[in-house]
Amino acid sequence: MAKLSTCFSLCCFLFILVPILAHSRQPSGDEEQAVLLRQQEADRVTNLPGQPAVNFRHYAGYVKLQPQDQKALFYWFFEAQSGVARKPLVLWLNGGPGCSSVAYGAAQELGPFLVRSNGTELTFNKFSWNKVANMLFLEAPVGVGFSYTNNSEDLRKLGDQITAADSYTFLINWFKRFPSFKSHDFYIAGESYAGHYVPQLAQFIYEKNKGFSKDSYINLKGFMIGNAAINEPTDTLGLFDYAWSHAIISDQLYDKINKECSFKEISNQTAQCTEHMRGFMEAYSDIDMYSIYTPVCLKSSGRTYSKLVVAPRLLTQHGLWHKLPSGYDPCTEDYVEKYFNRKDVQTALHANVTKLPYPYTTCSGVIKGWNDSPDSVLPTIQKLLDAGLRIWIYSGDTDGRVPVTSTRYSINKMRLKIKEEWRAWFYKSQVAGWVETYEGGLTFATVRGAGHQVPVFAPDQSLSLFTHFLTADTLPPSRS
Ligand SMILES: *[C@@H]1O[C@H](CO)[C@@H](O)[C@H](O)[C@H]1NC(C)=O
Ligand SMILES: *[C@@H]1O[C@H](CO)[C@@H](O)[C@H](O)[C@H]1NC(C)=O
Ligand SMILES: *[C@@H]1O[C@H](CO)[C@@H](O)[C@H](O)[C@H]1NC(C)=O
Ligand SMILES: *[C@@H]1O[C@H](CO)[C@@H](O)[C@H](O)[C@H]1NC(C)=O
Repeated sequence: MAKLSTCFSLCCFLFILVPILAHSRQPSGDEEQAVLLRQQEADRVTNLPGQPAVNFRHYAGYVKLQPQDQKALFYWFFEAQSGVARKPLVLWLNGGPGCSSVAYGAAQELGPFLVRSNGTELTFNKFSWNKVANMLFLEAPVGVGFSYTNNSEDLRKLGDQITAADSYTFLINWFKRFPSFKSHDFYIAGESYAGHYVPQLAQFIYEKNKGFSKDSYINLKGFMIGNAAINEPTDTLGLFDYAWSHAIISDQLYDKINKECSFKEISNQTAQCTEHMRGFMEAYSDIDMYSIYTPVCLKSSGRTYSKLVVAPRLLTQHGLWHKLPSGYDPCTEDYVEKYFNRKDVQTALHANVTKLPYPYTTCSGVIKGWNDSPDSVLPTIQKLLDAGLRIWIYSGDTDGRVPVTSTRYSINKMRLKIKEEWRAWFYKSQVAGWVETYEGGLTFATVRGAGHQVPVFAPDQSLSLFTHFLTADTLPPSRS
């Protein structure tokens, strides 16, 4: 970067390619604006292999973080299918930690193009969430998907806090490249371990917004999280209750787990408890824990596990987590991995421009450890409710990993006053799930028959849920 100040012509050249470096040169406001808009245009995706023709624009590329570090985060952004200027902007985050929002959210769940047929084809998703919002997918933190750092030491220093801070810096820089979206209502949504990311990022934004820099104000209105890890002791308790109540484990094993395992001191268990955990995982080994009633992929390329959410400490302390079965349809995960490893796809998406020394994987294989992860984000959620944010928590009720029992126990911990009692909500004259609302702005809704990645299993119901969240409308209470 020192070169920038000593060589003007090289500087101009780099300046166009890498406008974030502009900080070090202090250009005039107009000049900076023009460069950033050129960068926006350079990120436009125009020839994505296998993509069906569409009438909305999409963009992908890197946003560098602070000038003093060597991190760049990768995003894929889809403008809304119509009414771009009026519709809100929504950031979607997957969990892990270490799983990619591009590989899961965008390419398998709720984006407009879903990867099919062994990574050779994209199909148009009729229920894409960009029907009702401008959708931004971010791979965070560094080490996830195409996001990278040039300083490998960074990969040892990751955790919840850095993820929130880096995602915030990404947003501030992204809005500079896409200034027309700055005034839009802004929401964050995500699933699984994003039950940590989403409230933590919302809190980060909320705190930063209190500062008086109008320049970096983000118009945050609320967030929505699904099958989300939010309170470890009750999330863990619900895991076993769900397995028992859905006839996956025996009465005897259930009793032994309840007797020998501690749900308060999650990381300190007896040898007997560990033995029962082995039995618990054995019970799940032939079905898909993330979607208990769907078939497993039988032509899998040897993928043996998915890390869609962080392993509960109860299961990891003796290295057992890796024996858990895969996430929903590892075949799709394989296709997605194939697709994003294609050179022509990477070129079209402006990805992997620095020739990373490892392949693209749906969940990171290069992150080394996770340094901070609080047991509970309920205090954060409570604080943001008090701040007036709209918060919806949803749960696909056939997920065994962060099951609906866990989410109910966890929400109950907040001891909120019920505003509207538990009732069914409808989609196309059928019960799509159940819903309860609480004083202070929290809505909890289930999605009937959906696994961990809800939009995969109930695409139309999910879009309806998301639409109601954005408009703050009551979910339909009757058949018609
Ligand atoms: C990482 O290094 C490559 C090669 O020197 C450079 O092109 C790229 O801009 C660097 N990225 C960041 C985020 O510093
Ligand atoms: C997928 O592609 C790989 C090679 O690209 C091939 O070996 C495999 O048989 C294909 N699988 C299916 C189901 O088409
Ligand atoms: C774990 O539990 C045992 C027995 O309940 C106790 O003696 C020990 O101090 C605990 N260890 C930690 C690290 O909490
Ligand atoms: C990036 O590109 C290099 C060189 O083409 C390739 O070997 C590597 O697998 C790619 N990595 C990712 C994460 O896409």
